[in-house]
Amino acid sequence: HDERTFVMAKPDAVQRGLTGEIVTRLEERGLKLVGAKFMQIDQKLAEQHYGEHADKPFFDELVEFITSGPVMAMVWQGADATRQVRQMMGATDPADAAPGTIRGDYGLDLGQNIIHGSDHEDEGANEREIELFFDEDELVEYERSD
Ligand code: CMP
Repeated sequence: HDERTFVMAKPDAVQRGLTGEIVTRLEERGLKLVGAKFMQIDQKLAEQHYGEHADKPFFDELVEFITSGPVMAMVWQGADATRQVRQMMGATDPADAAPGTIRGDYGLDLGQNIIHGSDHEDEGANEREIELFFDEDELVEYERSD
């Protein structure tokens, strides 16, 4: 079904010049970019976004990293967009991610794993994350020609 999902090129992706590559891969797959924001995440937003990991031993490290530099927050739309993006990202730990996936092609570090996408097994995570980062009027509706 047609849905929107939240995707973020993390600070390591921006630092390494991989933002364009991420956008290109998702565009070429046929997903439609409907929102994008190049921004710096502050402490509060980081703690909200990663709230479900608040009790994990790596939480502080996670917040520190995601606030360490600019990110590109995006909303992508398409058929089963959340699951499609998860497949294209590869396993959370880049060391386990299959070659051909974004993490499998560009990373080895679990903490700095290049890209975030909403969890498709967490019902409503996509809309919750979109709402956290975007106002509805920052999302655009249009037809792609393909
Ligand atoms: P992400 O999909 O953004 O959601 C939570 C993040 O926590 C995950 O990507 C990883 O980058 C990070 N993460 C998960 N497990 C660990 C860990 N053991 N140590 C450090 N970071 C982790």
